[in-house]
Amino acid sequence: MSTRELTSILETCQDVSKSILLAELEVDTERELFWQRKWTLTPTHMFPSVRKFNIKSKICYDEDGNVLFQTDFPMVRVDALPTQDTNNKAHGIVPGDHLMEDLWEIEDTAWEHEHTSYVVYERSLTPRRADLDNVLEEKVIFDRKSGTTTFLPISHGGMSEKLPSCYPRVDRLYIQYAPGRVKVKAVPLDPDNLGNMKRYGDILVEKVKKWGRGGYVRKAKHDIMIPRSLYVDNYVRMKKSYGHIAEDWEEVTDPIKYVYEDISICAFLISIWQMERTMDASLRKQTFVDLGCGNGLLVHLLTLEGYHGYGIDLVSRKIWDKFKGADLRTEQFRPDLASFPQVDWILGNHSDELTPWIPYIASLSPNTKYFVLPCCFYDFSGKYAVSGGTLGKYQTYLNYVEQIGSEVSSIQKESESLTQRQCGFRVEHETLQIPSTKNQAQIGRLRNYDVNDPAQVQEVEARRAKLMSRFTGFVIRPPQPTCTPQKRYRGAELEAHLKSLGITKPPRTKNQQPREIKT
Ligand SMILES: C[S@@+](CC[C@H](N)C(=O)[O-])C[C@H]1O[C@@H](n2cnc3c(N)ncnc32)[C@H](O)[C@@H]1O
Repeated sequence: MSTRELTSILETCQDVSKSILLAELEVDTERELFWQRKWTLTPTHMFPSVRKFNIKSKICYDEDGNVLFQTDFPMVRVDALPTQDTNNKAHGIVPGDHLMEDLWEIEDTAWEHEHTSYVVYERSLTPRRADLDNVLEEKVIFDRKSGTTTFLPISHGGMSEKLPSCYPRVDRLYIQYAPGRVKVKAVPLDPDNLGNMKRYGDILVEKVKKWGRGGYVRKAKHDIMIPRSLYVDNYVRMKKSYGHIAEDWEEVTDPIKYVYEDISICAFLISIWQMERTMDASLRKQTFVDLGCGNGLLVHLLTLEGYHGYGIDLVSRKIWDKFKGADLRTEQFRPDLASFPQVDWILGNHSDELTPWIPYIASLSPNTKYFVLPCCFYDFSGKYAVSGGTLGKYQTYLNYVEQIGSEVSSIQKESESLTQRQCGFRVEHETLQIPSTKNQAQIGRLRNYDVNDPAQVQEVEARRAKLMSRFTGFVIRPPQPTCTPQKRYRGAELEAHLKSLGITKPPRTKNQQPREIKT
């Protein structure tokens, strides 16, 4: 949605002249509680008769209507939502591979971003009586300053009879929060016939009160390693300086998502590195290698920020030509044969099969540290079979990667012996402020042994050797970018776009899900 469209929607939302108050209640909830996943990601909380829903996209805007984060959810049907809330029996469509819990993390992340002024969701609601009722397209708009959420049905063309029966007869519905008070308002389609709308308002404010009672449990872990102000200063400055890269983006992937995502990761890294230099009273900027660097943007940004380093990828990308000055190398990297004693930091940003190797390779050199942002599930020799269980697949895999790096995981639940898995780091975590659901970074900058004590070093070496005893060989994938564009193109548009980039669209089998691969 363009800034112009946003402005027009905000004008509609802010026109409260025809609104009527349906209900009002005193509440003791925090403001954050007001903008809740209960009414964004699980619309069945508000409209219990909805049978299915489809969250399509979420965009966070700053005060001037510039896009800060955009999440286009790939459409993947799940048969039932995980049982986080046992009352929720509706079926939803959420990104493949992700539990609702992952989406909630995004929710926390985007909401907590200081510069977020407006959040717009696009979703569709399928009523129970699908044969009689229409599917409703709806926008949900949160205006942070006024503390107002507006629910804006858009596909009924102002005609009451085209609204599904599960939806109140409104042009728009508001839930408004002021400290200590919640109001439900509506602009009715027929002000002379409110039906049971007031009753609906009463139920809704009661729900808000109830949801607020447990208190808002902030799930995302931000700013554990760095002061928020340092990160935000770096992010805002870099977004201003490098945001233009999105305009010249030549890859099939969504520039808004990837450019801002890498700016955010870069801001995080350089914040850590600035602090590191301060603590070490050092002026020398850190060096790095980015394994599986893909489009090379992170390397480009770090280089522009004055850090020396290089990126390695199997496949060179067309956009590399534009990143003049960035050292980007095409190489079939063999992690089992590598070490980087001269490099300060090894980076693995959604590095696929190289991910488990990042802590391992870093541990081979006493002064090398690592940053890894795990995504797809890989073990040393191939796919990592994640069973999931109560922790969920993503968390289980995070635990696994953490165990490779560290002695003990605070969240570890597996029975497997940990002592076989440690590479001698004290791993730290951070939830990155990026629009990806895979946003849990692990950082190994501290060792849990004395690197100058030969006996302890020997012990770590023995553990590393044990870790490798299960390694059966590293298979390098064919150097062919198989990319699934995140931006939604329609029909022939996609073919034309891919053709212009000299890419043949990979064949997709009927039930195959899109993979989150960036180029
Ligand atoms: C999911 S992509 C991530 C790209 C990039 N880091 C980003 O976040 O945009 C994983 C990348 O790892 C690269 N890769 C996987 N195995 C590799 C290997 N053995 N040597 C070099 N690159 C490899 C792939 O070519 C791919 O570009």
